[in-house]
Amino acid sequence: MIIRTAIKEACLELNKKNIKSYLLDSEILMSKVLNKKRDYIILNLEKYLNQKEFDYFRYLIDERAKGKPIAYLTGKKYFWKDEFNVNENVLIPRPETELIIEQILKIYKNKKSLRVLEIGVGSGCVLLSVMKEKRGFIGVGIDIDKNCLKVCKNNINKLNLSNKISLYKSDIDNFNYGKYDLIISNPPYIKSIDFKYLEKDVSKFEPKLALDGGLDGLSEIRKVINKSSELIKNNGKLILEVAFDQKSKVKNLLKEKGFYINRVLKDLSNNDRCIISSKI
Ligand SMILES: C[S@@+](CC[C@H](N)C(=O)[O-])C[C@H]1O[C@@H](n2cnc3c(N)ncnc32)[C@H](O)[C@@H]1O
Repeated sequence: MIIRTAIKEACLELNKKNIKSYLLDSEILMSKVLNKKRDYIILNLEKYLNQKEFDYFRYLIDERAKGKPIAYLTGKKYFWKDEFNVNENVLIPRPETELIIEQILKIYKNKKSLRVLEIGVGSGCVLLSVMKEKRGFIGVGIDIDKNCLKVCKNNINKLNLSNKISLYKSDIDNFNYGKYDLIISNPPYIKSIDFKYLEKDVSKFEPKLALDGGLDGLSEIRKVINKSSELIKNNGKLILEVAFDQKSKVKNLLKEKGFYINRVLKDLSNNDRCIISSKI
């Protein structure tokens, strides 16, 4: 079969499953199969696929039809300025999280060295992007899940950052190592009861550990704030990503632990997304 026909059939199947990006997804998955860029696919639609290529393409399309996210099928996701390796153990990096990087670059524009801790490092997209932008900064990343740390380590090697970042497997509650100028975290913040409202691609395929914020959505945020108040240096900053409806509660939790609220930022969808605070 030629590429054009295989893609046409795949589009019909994905469209039937209400996958709006059916053409783009089919082209991306064909690129994965042939290990070529997307423009090669578009320029070689009449090329014949061998049986092995066709079978692999059909397998990927079937998985996509079941709702598996493209990033898990390709094993890659672009974030800030780099392509990160991902698998089903890590949250797929989200564009709204890039707000954290933007803010750090603004706040520390003239800062040459800083000790940074990321709580819940996942794929490493946040910490590694900061470390690449600020070559004099030193980073520590922790995660409760050893499989996330494997992915993160892989990305550290890929981006040549192994001399600047240390990783620890730890629950935030048990982490007591070092003092930091800056702590960042995009913790799990979805209320357990709201899981059923998440898109199927997310609830069925992304790790619960990365999403589940307990009954009120705040259980991990509370832990992050409590522990940060011990690990942060005086005047150090804590930058948190939160859910659109958590601003007031999180501000109160921060104030109770001696943090001053510097700013609350909205994401591109106009949702409150990022709270910047300082330890006073
Ligand atoms: C929402 S994901 C964020 C991943 C990554 N930082 C990002 O922004 O894409 C939250 C991460 O926190 C980790 N995590 C959850 N509970 C934790 C805990 N109690 N202590 C440390 N890490 C935790 C999860 O394994 C997951 O990797």
